[in-house]
Amino acid sequence: MHRPSTITVDGPAASGKSTLAQALARELDYLFFDTGVMYRAVTLAALQRGVPIDDEAGCTRLAETVKIDVQPPSVDDGRLYDVCLDGVDVTWAIRKPEVNQNVSPVSAYPGVRTALTEQQRRIGQRGEVVMVGRDIGTVVLPDADLKIYLDASVEERARRRYQECLGRGETADYEGVQAEIRNRDQIDSNRTVSPLRPADDARIVDTDSMDATETLTYILGLVRNHDG
Ligand code: CDP
Ligand code: CDP
Repeated sequence: MHRPSTITVDGPAASGKSTLAQALARELDYLFFDTGVMYRAVTLAALQRGVPIDDEAGCTRLAETVKIDVQPPSVDDGRLYDVCLDGVDVTWAIRKPEVNQNVSPVSAYPGVRTALTEQQRRIGQRGEVVMVGRDIGTVVLPDADLKIYLDASVEERARRRYQECLGRGETADYEGVQAEIRNRDQIDSNRTVSPLRPADDARIVDTDSMDATETLTYILGLVRNHDG
């Protein structure tokens, strides 16, 4: 059997991409790489350094100059990996509501995307990788061996994110989480450069009525039956 070496997982917020990709990478002994952390890290840098979110040139300069590192987890606190921004651990800081609210406008800037896409492509082209994002199958790795597009209704995705916040001991409000996800869906799907959409050759998987284990089992079936 010819195992797919580059696997892409795209889809909207909280469709289960990272959960699936992490488990799949562990199963196949591949690298798991979540490109969302890069857009989040640039957004955090802008917020911390006082670069206005509507300053396209300023945000682009940050994307071109900050050093983003993703490494195996060094702390046992539920994290999947460490994210460092210019040497500082920002693993949880990039999940703050302020970042959630500002990451989509920053990600829509063409210069930001060019800078980050280049780094992602270099990592992806080494193979044996499960790469997660919005445009991995369409733009970053258009020649990937297996492309997956995970979807779920906005109500179900908001429920998952809401539960996740409660599980971390944070206070959350379901309506607020849903509004934030809707807003990001809208910006991510309608931007001019690399909008969120399934690649023509992607396998679209609706996870509304599937839990994480069922999704993994289904995708492992696609991997095994892959004939590329
Ligand atoms: O985990 P969640 O789906 O909430 O978000 P994420 O994957 O961490 O991505 C955060 C944001 O980064 C998305 O809403 C997009 O605006 C942007 N993003 C992108 O534009 N392209 C990617 N390849 C990955 C993320
Ligand atoms: O990476 P993405 O934003 O697409 O989603 P995720 O972070 O993998 O999943 C968001 C939340 O939904 C996590 O708490 C998962 O445990 C949960 N989840 C679920 O309830 N059912 C699934 N089929 C997949 C994920």
